[in-house]
Amino acid sequence: MRATRRKSLALVFGGRSLEHQVSVVSARSIAGALRHDRYDVTLMAIDRRGRWADPETARRVLEASGDRTDRVVDFEGADRLDRRLLDGSIDVAFPALHGPYGEDGTIQGLFEMLDIPYVGCDHAASAVCMDKSISKRLLAQASLPTAPWHTVIRSDWTRDAEEVRSRCLALGLPLFVKPARLGSSVGVSKVADPRGLGPALEAAFAHDELAIVERGLDAREIEVAVLGNADPRASVPGEIVPGHEFYDYEDKYLDDSCQLLAPAPLDEGTTARVQQMAVAAYRALGCAGMARVDLFLERGDGTLWVNEANTIPGFTAISMYPRLWGLSGLPYPDLLDELIRLAFERHEAKKGLGIRG
Ligand SMILES: Nc1ncnc2c1ncn2[C@@H]1O[C@H](COP(=O)(O)OP(=O)(O)O)[C@@H](O)[C@H]1O
Ligand SMILES: [Mg+2]
Repeated sequence: MRATRRKSLALVFGGRSLEHQVSVVSARSIAGALRHDRYDVTLMAIDRRGRWADPETARRVLEASGDRTDRVVDFEGADRLDRRLLDGSIDVAFPALHGPYGEDGTIQGLFEMLDIPYVGCDHAASAVCMDKSISKRLLAQASLPTAPWHTVIRSDWTRDAEEVRSRCLALGLPLFVKPARLGSSVGVSKVADPRGLGPALEAAFAHDELAIVERGLDAREIEVAVLGNADPRASVPGEIVPGHEFYDYEDKYLDDSCQLLAPAPLDEGTTARVQQMAVAAYRALGCAGMARVDLFLERGDGTLWVNEANTIPGFTAISMYPRLWGLSGLPYPDLLDELIRLAFERHEAKKGLGIRG
């Protein structure tokens, strides 16, 4: 399928979310691992206000970042969009962006409009996976186990706090309260005492008008890297051992107390169950290209639950997604080749359906 000329690839990074710097470090790893005999890489950096930087700035940011995700290399873009996306010179885009305006379907919609093939899930699956309320409904509808929950609308909480409180407390303590459409554990609280529910909801509502209140599980956190379009495959599973009470923002990005085990110490039977469930969740959520599917494995009886799918997982050298594929026999540069091939494959398949103009 690969033409003889190098593909012109736009690597897009930075962006408006709190994971801006993680994205820069992910992009740095990707840029370093892409096969330069196959891809002519155009760097596109988006600043924290959503402006696109000039090529020289993009290059400087990538170089200056090193591997540090905890120190932002500040820069300012000038344009609302990089014009190189409009002139037909880009063959494929690789959004290495996390969170809102990157992983939530917005930039994927832009690529759809411009008819540019792109790596990862499409606009619809990206939006679905970013929204815990919608994705939990889809998982439940596909008979996949997801922790019992209620979706709480801010206006309902304002109007009738008592009704919301009794409905949520009926799920049993502890509870986890989260903004429906965010990530990185921002605004997530564990509630062990009924008095903590109100403040936890307020904390979630500071980020979103929808909150998820979910029964807390005493569980191990298992992650699986899933790859593919129509016929997705699962990597060997990994495990997160949080250094804090749960896998919160500090644990993810700021300290070294959390452990990433790859592969996860699981027996064969559990590994197979985990992989099967990850692929089933990927399909139920409409994913294509890639997603990291996170599961809970209950300590007591080994019950498995799907937590969430992350459609643009971290891609730094130590991130789970590339590490798990490395352990599964697909080294980083081959993984990137495959993701790009899948991007073209999906683009072609859509054309075949005649749903493109
Ligand atoms: N129902 C739950 N039971 C136990 N721990 C949970 C539960 N929900 C969330 N957590 C903890 O909070 C972390 C962040 O929640 P998650 O739903 O993954 O949100 P995010 O999208 O911000 O990553 C999880 O990695 C886990 O440590
Ligand atoms: Mg998570």
